[in-house]
Amino acid sequence: MLASRRILLIIGGGIAAYKALDLIRRLRERGAQVVPVLTRAGAEFVTPLSVSALAGHKVHSDLFDLTDEAEMGHIELSRSADLIVVAPATADLMAKMAHGHAGDLASTLLLATDTPVLLAPAMNVRMWQHPATQRNIAMLRGDGIGFVGPNEGDMACGEHGPGRMAEVPEIIEAIAARLGGGRLAGRRVLVTSGPTHEPIDPVRYIANRSSGAQGTAIARALAALGAEVVFVTGPASVPPPEGVTVVRVETAQEMLAAVERALPVDAAIFAAAVADWRVAHAHDRKMKKTAGGLPALEFAENPDILATVSAMGAGRPRLVVGFAAETHDVVENATAKRARKGCDWIVANDVSHATGIMGGTENAITLITDEGAETWPRMGKAEVAARLAERVARAVG
Ligand code: CTP
Repeated sequence: MLASRRILLIIGGGIAAYKALDLIRRLRERGAQVVPVLTRAGAEFVTPLSVSALAGHKVHSDLFDLTDEAEMGHIELSRSADLIVVAPATADLMAKMAHGHAGDLASTLLLATDTPVLLAPAMNVRMWQHPATQRNIAMLRGDGIGFVGPNEGDMACGEHGPGRMAEVPEIIEAIAARLGGGRLAGRRVLVTSGPTHEPIDPVRYIANRSSGAQGTAIARALAALGAEVVFVTGPASVPPPEGVTVVRVETAQEMLAAVERALPVDAAIFAAAVADWRVAHAHDRKMKKTAGGLPALEFAENPDILATVSAMGAGRPRLVVGFAAETHDVVENATAKRARKGCDWIVANDVSHATGIMGGTENAITLITDEGAETWPRMGKAEVAARLAERVARAVG
């Protein structure tokens, strides 16, 4: 899939630039041609010599390099690639892109191009979370720019959170998906999954029963069709899939905030088992048995994430899919739920005890759309996911 594809790799200035060297090697191993561009800040972290030696290609770094202009102008350089990858994409580079600056070679190439662009952001967690960066990201997503990562974890600066550049295999997978011409290549899809945990006190919570298996399988199937997947997951018991952007949350309120941050998307699949209520005033100290009598918990209603996104005007995903776990009158209840929540489709499943679906490997689905109810034969969760991803591709691919 990568053989003889031409990738223009822009290396921004950040400690993660060292991973770009490995990225070049792995891309070349797969037969891709890598044309490297090193920003001035990038050259503080990796040397032009290492980049050119690994790429087997001259490094471009200066906008006003006359030889280059004679050989190949920056316009041509930006358009002769099949894909432009920016790794690491710094907050500064993204700000320049969002606002159309063209003060150096990297930003000029990104402004002059009509080639698809994939960013692998890397920065300090506070810089990533800053409203200015988040604004820029929303603008870039609106412009059709693709993202892989960042991941959460320990950072070189000693802090913890989102901001670590995606690992090289993840970037390769995102590049392959983008180039592979999968039916969802260039489409951005959101999947919620798992339960939410609503704290009672620091050691207790209320939750729905959910392993996250079906949501995880759906995210994997969408990524396999080439979609850029944002996977917002509560504390699930199955690990998240590879090659998607994972956002971990605990509560329904955090899940809604993460979903809103992930927009805009082409399609949103709400597979999470969100707790409908939370404890109105979670105790910040452990409640003791000896406090006298049974505790009285006051509940507050959680936001309905599916209904909130379905009711959005501008910025509503083209396709919004909800789930309905029902124990009886599946089609009637799910049809009513589709109307009540305002989503396009409902994936209804019968979770009555006798079906053994909850926590199992199989699922029995009825898909409710504006064309009516379509009952699928009982099948494995991965098969359900592949079938649903196929339908999503038909709708928004
Ligand atoms: N959902 C959501 N936010 C909530 C509750 C549910 O986004 N606060 C989504 C789920 O992810 C699922 C769909 O809504 O896609 C259906 O959830 P479900 O809990 O079955 O429906 P309820 O609204 O709770 O209806 P009922 O309790 O009547 O079954």
